[in-house]
Amino acid sequence: MTAKIIDGNAIAASVREDVKAEATALREKGIEPCLAVMLVGEDPASRVYVGMKEKKCAEVGIRNIDARLPAETSQEEILRILDEWNADPSIHGILVQLPLPDHVDESTVTERILPEKDVDGFHPVNVGRMSAGDTDAFRPCTPHGVQVMLKHIGWDPSGKHAVVVGRSNIVGRPMATILSQKQPWANATVTVAHSRSDDLAGICRLADLLIVAVGRPESVTGDMVKEGAVVIDVGVNRVDDPEAPKGYRLVGDVAFEEAKEVASWITPVPGGVGPMTIAMLLQNTVTAAGRSAGTS
Ligand code: GUN
Repeated sequence: MTAKIIDGNAIAASVREDVKAEATALREKGIEPCLAVMLVGEDPASRVYVGMKEKKCAEVGIRNIDARLPAETSQEEILRILDEWNADPSIHGILVQLPLPDHVDESTVTERILPEKDVDGFHPVNVGRMSAGDTDAFRPCTPHGVQVMLKHIGWDPSGKHAVVVGRSNIVGRPMATILSQKQPWANATVTVAHSRSDDLAGICRLADLLIVAVGRPESVTGDMVKEGAVVIDVGVNRVDDPEAPKGYRLVGDVAFEEAKEVASWITPVPGGVGPMTIAMLLQNTVTAAGRSAGTS
C-alpha cells in the first residue's frame, strides 16, 4: 500500500479562511482581534515559528503585538509584561513561545497568563477543564490541529486504537486526552508510549492511528507501522545535508519513505502538522476575541 498524503497546508488554509471570516465579522462589530506574542532568547527554530505566527495573523486580520526579549531577561520582567497584557482589554490572546531560558520557570510564566487569554491552552485551568470534557476550554493547538486533520480526511478515530508516542505537555498528553474523550472525532482507545516504553516497536505496530511527537529524527521506521495505519508525524528536526541550499533539511520523527509504503494516510514534514498548529492558534485567538465581547 502507498499512503495518501494528508495535506496540512491545504487543510490549514481552509481553517484560516473560516478564521478570516470570523475576524472580519468581529471587526464589523468594532472588535479588532489581537494576539500578543513573547519570544525570549535567540533559539533559531523559535524565531522561525514566531515569525510564521505573526505573518499568518496578518493574513487573516488579527493584529499582532510582540515582545522579543534578550535571553537574560529576568522572570520578573517577563511577568510584568504579561500582567500588562492581561490588563489590556484590546489584547485577546497571549502566547509565550516555549522553551524559555533555564533561569525562567515555565509553569510560573504559563500560570500568569489569564486563562481566558491563554490561546495556547497550556494554563492548568484550561488543561483541567479540557481533561474534564469541557469543550469550551482552549485546546492546545497541535493536538487540536491533528484532530481537525482527521476530520478533514474523514477518518474517525472512534473505537480505534491510537498510539501516541511522546508525553509532552504540549503535544503527547493533550493528544491522548482529546482522542479518548467521549466526543465526536474522538472515542479512541489510547496508549501513550514514550522513551522508556518496553517494546516500543511492538506497541506502535498495534496502532490504527500512530501519532509521533518525540523530537528524534526518523525514529519510527516502516517496520513499526501496521499495514493500513494512519500516521501523524508531529516532529520537525533539522538534519545536516551538505547538498541542501541551507546545509540542512527538515525531517519528521517518522521515516517517511518507508512508512508511506505501509500506511493508508500519512502527514509529510514539512507541510503536515506544522501549518495546522498555527491555524488553530488563529482560531483560538478569534474565539477569545469573540468571547471578550460576549459574541461567542
Ligand atoms: N513551542 C513548541 N510548540 C509550541 C506551541 O504550540 N506554543 C508555544 N507557546 N510554544 C511552543
